[in-house]
Amino acid sequence: MNDRYLDFTHSPFGKTLASMLGLPTPPRLRRADAAWAAQPFADGAILVGGDSKATLAAPLLAALGASGAQLRIVPEHAGLAPLKAAAASLGLQLIGNPAPSAGERPNRAIVFDASGLSSPAQMRELYDFLQPLVRGLVPNGRVLLLSRAADACTSVGAKTMSTALRGFMRSLAKEIGKNGNTCNLLEVAENGEAALAAPLHFFLSAHSAYVSGQTLRITTSTAKPVELAGSLAGRSALVTGAARGIGAAIAEVLAREGAQVIGIDHPSQEGALGETMARIGGRGLALDVTATDAAQRIAAEAGGLDVVVHNAGVTRDKMLRNMSPQYWDLVLNINLAAIIDINEGLLKSGLNDGARVVCISSIGGIGGNAGQTNYASTKAGVIGYVDAMAPTFAKRGGAINAVAPGFIETQMTAAMPLGPREIGRRINSLSQGGLPQDVAEAVAFLASPAAAGVNGQTLRVCGQNWFGA
Ligand SMILES: NC(=O)c1ccc[n+]([C@@H]2O[C@H](COP(=O)([O-])OP(=O)(O)OC[C@H]3O[C@@H](n4cnc5c(N)ncnc54)[C@H](O)[C@@H]3O)[C@@H](O)[C@H]2O)c1
Repeated sequence: MNDRYLDFTHSPFGKTLASMLGLPTPPRLRRADAAWAAQPFADGAILVGGDSKATLAAPLLAALGASGAQLRIVPEHAGLAPLKAAAASLGLQLIGNPAPSAGERPNRAIVFDASGLSSPAQMRELYDFLQPLVRGLVPNGRVLLLSRAADACTSVGAKTMSTALRGFMRSLAKEIGKNGNTCNLLEVAENGEAALAAPLHFFLSAHSAYVSGQTLRITTSTAKPVELAGSLAGRSALVTGAARGIGAAIAEVLAREGAQVIGIDHPSQEGALGETMARIGGRGLALDVTATDAAQRIAAEAGGLDVVVHNAGVTRDKMLRNMSPQYWDLVLNINLAAIIDINEGLLKSGLNDGARVVCISSIGGIGGNAGQTNYASTKAGVIGYVDAMAPTFAKRGGAINAVAPGFIETQMTAAMPLGPREIGRRINSLSQGGLPQDVAEAVAFLASPAAAGVNGQTLRVCGQNWFGA
């Protein structure tokens, strides 16, 4: 569904009226229009900084150097020494002029390595670096912070500052969202450095247009690091609920990345499923995910799977006092029990080594909603489930993660009454609903073997929705 208010505020009259009345003007987000590129930032520059004790300069610069970006620095800041040492050892050039002149590549992002912060006084180094730069961010620019995950911190001070950064990141994301800018935080656990490149590329690129205010933890992995570009080519991927909406977009983005997609949907949706699969060159399987033999039928149809995306989901909203057992059971069975049962079956037979699973949660499961005790139970349950199952998948060289969408423009949200729909759209830092593609981009990132260091986590794709924030 079109966001008419967004379109209106970008017309000459609408822009003037919104400004006169002090109404928000949602930015037009720059979204990816092609597959992951090998050199995603070849047309831009990235400003890099860090604190004086930062420890991630080498993997950070190696990843950014490989991305094709020009690397700019602020010549007088506390964290120059680690950056210069890392650049020298990697043979990379750092350009000592933070502001591009006319005709030079624009600064598309600012990346700050805050992995060495260990006291409030030292946090001033972050302030000194970023404060003068924020105003110069281009629309749809990115701020990305790096820290040590709390369990990789060796002192109370370091652990405190690692958590302090989350508050900083969330607040800055709220400040800069009105221009389509995002701010996120990568927390790097012990030996997680080897898996840093793909998360950096995802968060700095247009593939993460609707992801802001989020923290992602990067852990060590036994899987060999690979680049995002081309990483899903030839992989077999299953998507449930693929006939329409978010599931169709996930199937489409996985196909765009070269995966061989098998889409599942309820037998009542066989026609729509066939059309979607024909459009993306995938195969359809009409199947109720709650069928007792669902896993066996999937394994028989698919052979070995590299990627499984559990997207099929329903709502049956009622206040608990009015909720029928039928509504309760239907939602619990489709949104949660089917995921657990299918995974259990596929873990016995049907998954290739290194298989990656992505489950769709919801911010409804994080913030809760009146009338959704059934739905929110399932979507919160998914978050606990991926956390609990992460070691099982890690042992096979794979991973299981969740994506929690916020307000996404689909048939489901188009059916909402006007008032709640408008509120749902605007109460986030980007002042608009996301598109199914935004969820699909995050799913594809987590489905890729390049995201090897991400396991057991839930990534929100919600424009930093203020629910459950
Ligand atoms: N739209 C949003 O704003 C939003 C927000 C948060 C989470 N989500 C979640 O994203 C997922 C997709 O949502 P959507 O908005 O695209 O919904 P949708 O209703 O448009 O699509 C869901 C698909 O799942 C299929 N499905 C339902 N029951 C099934 C079953 N038993 N077996 C097989 N297929 C079945 C449906 O036929 C449909 O094609 C859901 O899990 C939903 O809870 C959506």
